[in-house]
Amino acid sequence: MNKDTCVKLCCDTTMPIVALGVWKSGENTKQAVLDAIDAGYRHIDTAAAYHNEEAVGEAIKESGIKREDLFITTKLWNEDIRKHRVREALMDSLHKLQLDYVDLYLMHWPAEGYVEAYLEMEKLKDEGYIKAIGVSNFRRSHLENLLANVHKIPSVDQLEINPQFQDLETMEYCKENKIRLEAWSPLGSGSCLYLPEIERIAAKHQKSTAQIILRWLLQKGIVVLPKSVHKERIIENINLFDFELTETEMLVMDHLNIHKRTGPDPDHFNF
Ligand code: A2P
Repeated sequence: MNKDTCVKLCCDTTMPIVALGVWKSGENTKQAVLDAIDAGYRHIDTAAAYHNEEAVGEAIKESGIKREDLFITTKLWNEDIRKHRVREALMDSLHKLQLDYVDLYLMHWPAEGYVEAYLEMEKLKDEGYIKAIGVSNFRRSHLENLLANVHKIPSVDQLEINPQFQDLETMEYCKENKIRLEAWSPLGSGSCLYLPEIERIAAKHQKSTAQIILRWLLQKGIVVLPKSVHKERIIENINLFDFELTETEMLVMDHLNIHKRTGPDPDHFNF
C-alpha cells in the first residue's frame, strides 16, 4: 500500500483512506469489489446487515490479492448486540467472508448492551480474530459512556458525514481522543452532488463534484467510503491524489453544513 493513501489508527494498524462502500450494492456487490480492487482500492467496507459478505468474500478470493494487502471491515448487527451474540456473529461473518480475521470490526449502532458487546469484541481482538475494533454511529454521549467502561479506545467511529451534515460535537470529541473518523455516505447518498458552491470548485479544478467532496474529507484526515456499482465512478472516486483544495475552498465546504441527515439519528433509531 502507498503510504500517502493510508492513515494510522491508534492501535498501530494502517488503513487505506479510501474504501469501497457496499451498502445497497445488492447483486452487483461482487463485480463492484472486483472493479474496485482493479482500480487500486485495498479497503472494502461491508456489514452483516448488508447481506453481501459472501459476495465480498468471493470477490476477494477471485481477485488473487494477498490477504495482508487488503483491509476488510465488517460490522456487528444490533440484534447480535442485544442478544449477546458477539462471538457467534463474528464467526458467521468470517465464514461468509472466507477469512480468518477482519482488519476492522465495528459495532454498527449503539444498541442496548453496547458496552458488554464491546468488551466481548476486545476479547476477540486479543484472540486474533480482529486487528482493530471500533464503533459506528456513536455520538459524543455514547462515546463518553463507552470510554468510561472499556479498556481499549475505539480505533474508529464511522459516522454519517457529508457537506450538509457534520456532527461537529462528535467530530471534535473523536479528534481529542484520537479516534479516527470515517464518513459513510460521504456524497450525502448523492444529494450533495449538485450544490452550486461545489460545482464552482469542481469547475476550477476540472474534477467532478464527487471528487471535490471526497478530497475535502481526505484533507481533514477522514476516511471515505463512497458507494458505487459503476466502474467509471468507482475509478473516479479514488482518483483524489493529484490535486489539493485551498484553505478558502475547505472553508466554503465546511460552511455547507445545514445539519441535514440522510440516514437515521443514533439517538433515536428503532431497528
Ligand atoms: P451508483 O452506485 O449507482 O453509482 P454515498 O456514498 O454518499 O452513499 O453515495 C452513493 C450514491 O452516489 C449512489 O447512489 C451512487 O450511485 C452515487 N455515486 C457514487 N459515486 C458517484 C460519482 N462519482 N458520481 C455520481 N454519483 C455517484
